[in-house]
Amino acid sequence: MRKIIVMLLILLGIPLMTSCANKLHEIPLIIYDMGDNYMSDFEQKIRQSSGDIAYHTYDSQNSQIIQNEIFETLLSDGYRLFVINPVDRLSVFAMIEKAEQVGATIIFINREPLKSDMDLYENVYYIGADAAQSGRLQAELVMSLFGNNPTQLNDKDLNGDNIIQTVILKGEQGHQDAEQRTDVVIDYLKENQFNVEVLEIKIANFDMQEAAIAMETLLNQYGNEIEVVIANNDAMAIGAIETLNTMGYFIDNDENDIIDRATDVWMPVVGIDGLDIAIEQIQSGFLYGTVLNDSISMALALNELVDILFNEKDMSTYTHTITSEKYVWIDYQILSLPTDE
Ligand code: GAL
Repeated sequence: MRKIIVMLLILLGIPLMTSCANKLHEIPLIIYDMGDNYMSDFEQKIRQSSGDIAYHTYDSQNSQIIQNEIFETLLSDGYRLFVINPVDRLSVFAMIEKAEQVGATIIFINREPLKSDMDLYENVYYIGADAAQSGRLQAELVMSLFGNNPTQLNDKDLNGDNIIQTVILKGEQGHQDAEQRTDVVIDYLKENQFNVEVLEIKIANFDMQEAAIAMETLLNQYGNEIEVVIANNDAMAIGAIETLNTMGYFIDNDENDIIDRATDVWMPVVGIDGLDIAIEQIQSGFLYGTVLNDSISMALALNELVDILFNEKDMSTYTHTITSEKYVWIDYQILSLPTDE
C-alpha cells in the first residue's frame, strides 16, 4: 500500500519528505538564460570549483516571471541561500523583499541590482566586475590597434583622416555592462585624445545570431568606411566575424585557416568576455582581442562566500575584499596577441 502511495505522490509531482530534506542541502543557482554563451560557461566554472557545495541550476529562460516563480517556490520549500543571476536587474526588488520576510540570503551575480535595492536589506551580496573597467580596457585594445599615437594613426586608419570610424554592437538595453561598456569605450578613447566617429550603435542583445544579422545591415550601409567593430561581448564579436567572413572581409590568402595580419585581408573586431572560442579566434587571427570577464575568479569568490554563509563560518575568513559590506569586485584583463604592433 505504501508503495502505491509513494508512486502516486511521484506521479503527481508531490515531493516526498525525505527527498525534500535532502534537497535543502543544495544551493539554488538561478541563471537568467542558459542559452547565453558567457553565462553557461560561468555556470560550468562555478560547478567545477564548487568542492562540497551541491548546486542545483535553474534556467529562467530569460523571463523574469519564470525566475520569480522559481524563487518563490524554492523559498516556500524552505531554501534560505540563493545565487541569482537576475533576468531584469531593475526588477530584483520583489525578490529582495520576499527574502527579507523570511531572513533568506541572496548572492546576485553578473547583473548588478540597483544600489537602492541592494541597500534595502542586509543579507544580499553582489559578485561581479566593474563594467566601466572593461570599457577602458577595450579602448586600450583599440588604441594599440591604431598605433597608440592619437596625433598620427597608423594604416588601420583606412581613409587617413586621423579619425577612428567605428560601429558598436551593443548588448541588452539597460544592462549595466551594455550601457557602460558602450559609453566608456568611446569616452576613454576621447579622453586619450583619439578622434572617434561612431557610425552607428546596433543593439544585438549579447547574442551571436542577432549580431551576425546586425553586421550584415551595417556592412551594407557603411562597407569600407568601418575601421573597427567594437562589440560589447565575444558572442556578438564572433557573430560579426561570421558575417564579415562570408562577405569577403577576411581573406585567408594562403588558405592555412589562419589570418596572417601582415598579408591577409582582415577587419579588426574587439570583444569582451574571453570565451574559449574567442581565444581560439584571437589565435587564428580573426578576432583582434578581447577583455577577460574573469569567470574563474568570480566562481572561486562565489564558492568561498557560499561556503561561509551556508556553513555559518566567520566572515572574517573570507579572502576577498567586501566593499560596502555587500560587493565583491573581480578585475577584467586584456587578452590579445602579444605580437601585435
Ligand atoms: C555580461 C557578458 C555578456 C552576457 C551578459 C549577461 O557580463 O559580458 O556576454 O553574458 O553578461 O548578463
